[in-house]
Amino acid sequence: MIAARVISNVLQDGKSLNTALDNALLSVESTKDKAFIQALCYGVCRYFYRLSFILNELLDKPIKDSEINALALVGLYQLNYMRVKQHAAVSETVLAAKKKPWAKSLVNALLRTYLRQQGVLEQKADENVAASVSHPVWLLRQIEIDWPERSSQILEANNRQPPMVLRVNLALNSRDQYLQSLSDHELAAKTVSFCESSLILSRPVPVELLPGFEQGHVSVQDTAAQLAASLLDVQVGQRVLDVCAAPGGKTVHILESQPHLKELVAIDIDEARLSRVQENLLRSNVSAQLIVGDAAKPKDWWDGQLFDRILLDAPCSALGVIRRHPDIKILRKPDDIKALQLLQKSILAATWPLLSSGGLLLYATCSILKQENEEQIMGFLAMHADAFEVPIDATWGNAAQRGRQILTGDSEMDGFYYALIKKS
Ligand SMILES: C[S@@+](CC[C@H](N)C(=O)[O-])C[C@H]1O[C@@H](n2cnc3c(N)ncnc32)[C@H](O)[C@@H]1O
Repeated sequence: MIAARVISNVLQDGKSLNTALDNALLSVESTKDKAFIQALCYGVCRYFYRLSFILNELLDKPIKDSEINALALVGLYQLNYMRVKQHAAVSETVLAAKKKPWAKSLVNALLRTYLRQQGVLEQKADENVAASVSHPVWLLRQIEIDWPERSSQILEANNRQPPMVLRVNLALNSRDQYLQSLSDHELAAKTVSFCESSLILSRPVPVELLPGFEQGHVSVQDTAAQLAASLLDVQVGQRVLDVCAAPGGKTVHILESQPHLKELVAIDIDEARLSRVQENLLRSNVSAQLIVGDAAKPKDWWDGQLFDRILLDAPCSALGVIRRHPDIKILRKPDDIKALQLLQKSILAATWPLLSSGGLLLYATCSILKQENEEQIMGFLAMHADAFEVPIDATWGNAAQRGRQILTGDSEMDGFYYALIKKS
């Protein structure tokens, strides 16, 4: 029932899966149970649009009780996607409804009917546009519009479990040295040719098992996000602004890659998230000036001194990281995109005057939508006569009309976008 409650928190209350799961797991002691609940919740969110389609086929009218509705989805998920015994999955799911006797017989009947008609129901789901790829219709249409030839790859990658990727702190150890210490701990990983700090683990492990994690020898970060620090090309003595910095993955990477900056100022609007930047700085033994503030209103926090480099890792739809946060498919709504585009535009316009002439601004998002990426940058360049694109010549990702786009699954990476802009 814990998993069903978490799913209901996402579906009914609009909570993020991470938040709902973190709260729910506080009351669970066994590590094995925690892992099982987590697998159920991620799985149901990943296949929500397919499971809901099948559930609707099995019902005459929708289940009004949100937790029981979620419990039915959890039961269907187990039967189709998990290696559990079918009769055990049915009886455990029915048992979970024990406090609501009316629901026990309903869940029992639903799951048994599903097992009897599984072949027909799955075929119907395969023939339905949204159910077949388990995405909401608006989103799959938008992906098809933006990436007509790559949409199947993106949709499929969104439903795959992502690898756990490490960023080796090259200031403390070489990647080969760290690979060796992983191997000493019986952990296998492979290198990424175009990113010197990146290692892809062959299976995810809790961070406590990573050698030197507490001492800052390594961090968890997708390869796509690791590309920011080298693109920013920070030099000794420079003043760097990290806009929208929390939880600080890129902040720490910039400081690891160039320990002799004049200063790094990291700003984020969310105080709680900014405290995670502090934790990450401490773990890696580096420091920065942290400011809680609205990036679109520099008057409230800027000291008037220009920056040589600005990283603007903009708030975005996060549609490039659906494989890590499958609840995004459920929580993101079409209207959000326009609002985010306006926010990105206002932050870009507000931070541009803070860059020195000859300085570089790196705009980044973890989105795959053109509106938030290349179209945003085309609009910006058209409005700012002193802004010039520096083309990103790379072996990774895809050249866009402006900037470079990584589509989800490209070289095992999250979907990401970068554009580098120089001030004349
Ligand atoms: C994509 S995340 C940044 C990830 C971060 N750069 C990293 O590498 O760990 C976007 C961040 O933008 C912040 N944010 C959203 N609106 C903002 C605003 N108006 N001003 C400053 N930060 C904002 C959010 O709180 C969130 O932490």
